[in-house]
Amino acid sequence: MTGNTSEAAIPDGAASPHPDIRRVRSNPDFWYPVAWSRELRRGRTIGVRYAGQPIVVVRPEAGAIFALDDVCPHLQLPLSKGEVCGDFIRCAYHGLKYSRRGQCFSPGMKLENEPPRLRTWACREKDGLIFVFMGDLEKSDSIALPDFPRVRDPHYRTRRFGKVVQCHYSFMHENLMDMNHQILHSRLVGGMKPRFLGMDRGEDFVEARYTFARTSGRQPLSEALIYGQRRKDGRDFAYRDVMTIRTQYPYQTLRIETEGIDEPVMELWIAYVPQDREELINRVFGLLSIRRLKIPFLLDLAWPLLIAFTERVFTEDREIVELEQQAWREQDGDRNQEVFPVIMALRQLLIQNGMPSQKDVG
Ligand SMILES: [Fe+2]
Repeated sequence: MTGNTSEAAIPDGAASPHPDIRRVRSNPDFWYPVAWSRELRRGRTIGVRYAGQPIVVVRPEAGAIFALDDVCPHLQLPLSKGEVCGDFIRCAYHGLKYSRRGQCFSPGMKLENEPPRLRTWACREKDGLIFVFMGDLEKSDSIALPDFPRVRDPHYRTRRFGKVVQCHYSFMHENLMDMNHQILHSRLVGGMKPRFLGMDRGEDFVEARYTFARTSGRQPLSEALIYGQRRKDGRDFAYRDVMTIRTQYPYQTLRIETEGIDEPVMELWIAYVPQDREELINRVFGLLSIRRLKIPFLLDLAWPLLIAFTERVFTEDREIVELEQQAWREQDGDRNQEVFPVIMALRQLLIQNGMPSQKDVG
């Protein structure tokens, strides 16, 4: 049978052929970052969330971290408010203790019923990030953690950043992949004319390539630091750099390569982690790696400047995606009329790899 589906051919209760992308839920069968390693010291806990599910991650004094539901089954209080005792977490209210396997112990208390058990979640730590796997536990071993080799590469310096954005993660994917929005950043970077070079797509990825030419304004110092090159006249450097943006579900990467340098001058890895059940609030985890210049300490000296610059670009983007989300709320649905083929492909990818919303399932 061919995939020729019309509205009428969809039986009652089946997923709609045009689901509202902002209602699509993230696929839990992946490793999602939930905290930075530095946020969780030895002998401490941290309360985090994935799509409305509260999770407590525990770092005992000895041994690996572990993750449990962040709700004491007794009176539903967050266990992350409790204390770490050896390899256990103790609820702050009545002192019920839970092991890394979710087993409950009730020291000094006589209980009427079998002590409740807590759900446990697969949890790993890599390159300064704490990940959880919230999907089918059996799949967790076969699904690889994302890799970011630049973080360990001494030729690069990496900035870890993240904020909470008040919008569905699809707006974030679209914003980063759509480089036709240079006008938004023109006050920061001057006039830039993008040229779309092409795209690739597969079952679980969409990749877009662009190049740029400066049409007005001076090169910002931050850009010079990334390219390791002061570019006085933009026309001489037109279309020399290639920017590749890829959504490899559920993550996103951006890479900039320039003529004459073998390795990328910049690489960004970014994940958007839904916080609430509707997935309309996302926590961003980003690793921005910039290649060191010929004078190695120059990048360190200029680091605060680069941070300020990238922060300003991010702030402009954040304001826009949150306004898009607000329009969606006010219009009670997705009224966007996307025309750019790569973004249309991206939207399809996010729908196909995500989970249908309860509303679309019917
Ligand atoms: Fe932007």
